[in-house]
Amino acid sequence: MTELNPIISYVSKKDRLVAGLMSGTSADGVDLAITQISGNGLDMKTKVLHYQFFPYAQKLKEEILGLSCSNNSALSMISPLNFYLGEIFAEAVISGCKSAQINVSKLDLIASHGQTVYHNPEGSKILGKNIPSTIQIGESSVIASKTGVMTVSDFRPADMAAGGQGAPLVPYADFILYRDLSRSRLSLNIGGISNITYIPAAASMSEVIAFDCGPGNMVIDYMAGKFSRGKKSIDEDGKRASSGKIQKDILKTLIKHPFIKKKPPKSTGREEFGEEFAGNILKRYKKAKPDDMMATVTAFTAEAIAGNIKSFIPALPHDIILGGGGAPAFILLNLLKEKIEGVKFLTSDDFGIPLKAKEALSFAILGNETVFGYPSNVPSATGASRNAVLGKITLP
Ligand SMILES: Nc1ncnc2c1ncn2[C@@H]1O[C@H](COP(=O)(O)OP(=O)(O)O)[C@@H](O)[C@H]1O
Ligand SMILES: [Mg+2]
Repeated sequence: MTELNPIISYVSKKDRLVAGLMSGTSADGVDLAITQISGNGLDMKTKVLHYQFFPYAQKLKEEILGLSCSNNSALSMISPLNFYLGEIFAEAVISGCKSAQINVSKLDLIASHGQTVYHNPEGSKILGKNIPSTIQIGESSVIASKTGVMTVSDFRPADMAAGGQGAPLVPYADFILYRDLSRSRLSLNIGGISNITYIPAAASMSEVIAFDCGPGNMVIDYMAGKFSRGKKSIDEDGKRASSGKIQKDILKTLIKHPFIKKKPPKSTGREEFGEEFAGNILKRYKKAKPDDMMATVTAFTAEAIAGNIKSFIPALPHDIILGGGGAPAFILLNLLKEKIEGVKFLTSDDFGIPLKAKEALSFAILGNETVFGYPSNVPSATGASRNAVLGKITLP
C-alpha cells in the first residue's frame, strides 16, 4: 500500500483535474466538463478545459422518461438502469478524456449529478408519515471501478436530510463563478426546467436568492416531439416557435399554473411539467395550429421566467447571465428581452464557460467541496435549516 489515500492526495494538490457530469431533466444525454480547479470555498478558481455532450440513445431516453413519469416504476427496471447509466457515464469520461488528450489516470475526481428518476421535496406518505425524497441514478461504484477515479455522486439527499428541497444546488457554483462587488447578477439556466440565482452586488452567500421558475424547454420539447411524430426532440433554435403566433387565451390559462406564482423556496421537475401536463394542453387545445402552439408554449416559458424574476427578486439585476442547453433558442431570448428591459444580457460563454457546460462545471465545483468536507448547499435557496456537505465519495 504505497499509494496515498485519494482524498488526502486530492486536498494536498494545488491544481486538480475534475470531470463534472450532468444529466438533467431533459434526459437528452450527458454533459461532460473536464475542469481544472484550484483552491476551494471562496478562493476556488476554475477553468473548463474540455466540454463534450454524449446524447442518450433514443431507447434509453424513452426508458428514463418512462420511469420518471410513472408512479409505479418497477425496481427491477430502476436497479439495472442505475448500473447501466454508471457505465454510460464512465464511458463518457473515458471517451471525453481521449478527445481532450488527457490520460484518464490524470483525473483527480469525477463529480456526477446522476439522472433524476424521482424528486419529491413535498413528500409522500409512508406508514402515515410524510417523507420527502429524491433519487438520482448512475451507480458511482461502476463509474469509479471503470475509470479508476474517485467519484462523488448523490448530491441532493444531504440537503433534503437537512430539511431542504434538495434543489437548486447550482447557486453555490453561481456564487463562486459570478459574484461581483459592484454589479448585481442573475444567473438564468434554461434546461428542461428553468432556474435562477440572484446575487446582489457585494453579496454574502446568505443573501443569494435562487429557485426554479417552472418549465424551461420541457413543454417545448414535448410539443416538438408530438408535432414531428417523434422525428424531432427539440425545436432547434426556436424555429417553429418563430413562425407561429402566440395564442393569448391559451397563454393566459397556462400561466395560471400554481407553481409559477408559488413563493420560493421552490423546485420542480417532470412531475409537474412533464408528459401529463403537456399532453393535457394538447388534448385541451386540439384546434391550435402546431406552430402557434410552439410559439405559445415558448411564450409560456418566457413569461414564467420573467414573472418569477419580477415577483420574487427584490430589484432587477444589472446583468442576466444565461446558461443551459435551452439558451440558444433566440426567440425565447428575444421574448425575455422584451419582458425584462434595462438589463444587460450575457451568456456563460462571456465567462469562458460553454452554455451547455455550465451545469457540469457546477457539479465539478460541488464535488471539489465534498472532498474538502465543505458544505455547498445554499440554505436560502433550498430552504434547508443548515449548511450541509453534499454528496457521497466512492473510492475506486
Ligand atoms: N439548438 C437548440 N435550440 C433550442 N433548444 C435547444 C437546442 N439545443 C438544445 N436545446 C434544448 O436544450 C435542452 C437540453 O438542455 P440541458 O441544459 O442539457 O437541459 P437538462 O439539464 O434539462 O438536460 C434540450 O432538451 C433542448 O430543449
Ligand atoms: Mg441535458
